[in-house]
Amino acid sequence: MSRSGQKPGTVLVVEDEPAQRQLVTDILTDLGLTVTQAASQAEALAAARAEPPQLVISDWKLESGDGLSLLRELRDSGVDSSFIMVTAYGSIAHAMEAIRAGADDYLSKPFERQALLLAVERTLRARDLQAENQRLAEEVGERDRLVDLVGKAPGMQRLYRRIEKIADTQASVLIGGESGTGKELAARAVHTLSGRSDGPFIAVNCGAIPEGLMEAEFLGAEKGAYTGAHQRRIGKFEAASGGTLFLDEVGELPLAIQPKLLRALQEGRVTRVGGNSEILTDVRIIAASNRDLEEEVTAGRFREDLYYRLNVVPIEMPPLRERREDIPALIDHFVARTARQHALKPAAIPASVRRRLVDHHWPGNVRELGNVVERLILLADDSGVTADDLPASFRSAPPAGSGFALPPEGVNWEALEHAALSQALSMAGGNRARAAKLLGLSYKAFLYRLGKHGLGQEE
Ligand SMILES: Nc1ncnc2c1ncn2[C@@H]1O[C@H](COP(=O)(O)OP(=O)(O)OP(=O)(O)O)[C@@H](O)[C@H]1O
Ligand SMILES: [Mg+2]
Repeated sequence: MSRSGQKPGTVLVVEDEPAQRQLVTDILTDLGLTVTQAASQAEALAAARAEPPQLVISDWKLESGDGLSLLRELRDSGVDSSFIMVTAYGSIAHAMEAIRAGADDYLSKPFERQALLLAVERTLRARDLQAENQRLAEEVGERDRLVDLVGKAPGMQRLYRRIEKIADTQASVLIGGESGTGKELAARAVHTLSGRSDGPFIAVNCGAIPEGLMEAEFLGAEKGAYTGAHQRRIGKFEAASGGTLFLDEVGELPLAIQPKLLRALQEGRVTRVGGNSEILTDVRIIAASNRDLEEEVTAGRFREDLYYRLNVVPIEMPPLRERREDIPALIDHFVARTARQHALKPAAIPASVRRRLVDHHWPGNVRELGNVVERLILLADDSGVTADDLPASFRSAPPAGSGFALPPEGVNWEALEHAALSQALSMAGGNRARAAKLLGLSYKAFLYRLGKHGLGQEE
């Protein structure tokens, strides 16, 4: 998208109510911005086409025309000014529609001067950042990292572009991808590159909360709300206000809690368990799942409305086996990380070992690679890192399944188990629930064994 013709510091204020229009104009002029006004959709379109401003702030409802059509017309005619939509109080649906249509942010009426300034500053800063990133990207052609994400394969370039484009909007993001592909890192990157980076990043593993405590965990609870609630408990929504709430493993959310969560998401308000006043929250939601959520919706295990609310911007993490060219850079990254963590001198990984690492199938993706590199370094002796310290899965591909017959010389049980787990994960495309089924194990038993072998566990 070209930003040609946009004069820095120019804002077009579109509002049919003269007093309100003048008020916004005065606030922004005080800020040193150059403000033009328009009272209708047609007037705004003509002004923006004649001289594209850096930012358009438009009311949703205009006496003549409306903000959403204005936004669409601007985008259709190649004007890509930043856009803040002003919506009526409580109409989150309009705000979401505006974001989907390409607005950068929204304000709900009536807004305080401070909220306006914050939104304007955030939007203009994001534009500058985006322009700077684009300039850098054009200069170097491709990039080898974004925040803490390492890799320059085409799939990563696409990922970086998408993250940058949507980071500084309010849009919910749903991150998919196999286990260990960096979903959490991507979520943190979105937060870091957003105007909320000074606010909290709160991660909740939805698969790890006992069902009975879920409501209190998300919404909070007043003292005495349930047995054992000795003091007031602040819910994750409240804790994440002003920042980002990361719903990890969102596919594990029990159906019973989903409507309550949806309500909190849609209305931006929560009521603590046992409380009777509503608390306003300002939270950006990022969710991640290694289950196919669409499949879960079809199977009736996940509410469709919640799915659509979360999936405004989908992001898919590429598996490591599809970006082998990134393995050497990742090895170096993990060598440095291991050295830092264990206060060691960075070790050299011989070319022969690198070759083996590049050729591996990587069912556990980047996390598994990180674990293998760490292990190689910690096991290295005076003669340095050797292929002998590679895990068993690099040596043998033992028979699996019902055709198994114990050979007379016996087997290496640990190696066999590791290989079975790896292969099941790989066959299930990283979906742990399905991998567990392939091995006839319960989800919990499967996770336990993964952890034992350093495959796909949380760090
Ligand atoms: N692109 C990457 N660059 C650097 N490190 C990465 C990258 N992707 C993943 N990692 C590392 O791999 C490990 C797993 O990453 P992360 O926890 O983000 O994965 P995940 O997709 O959330 O996995 P799971 O589905 O198992 O929760 C972390 O140690 C992380 O630092
Ligand atoms: Mg994760």
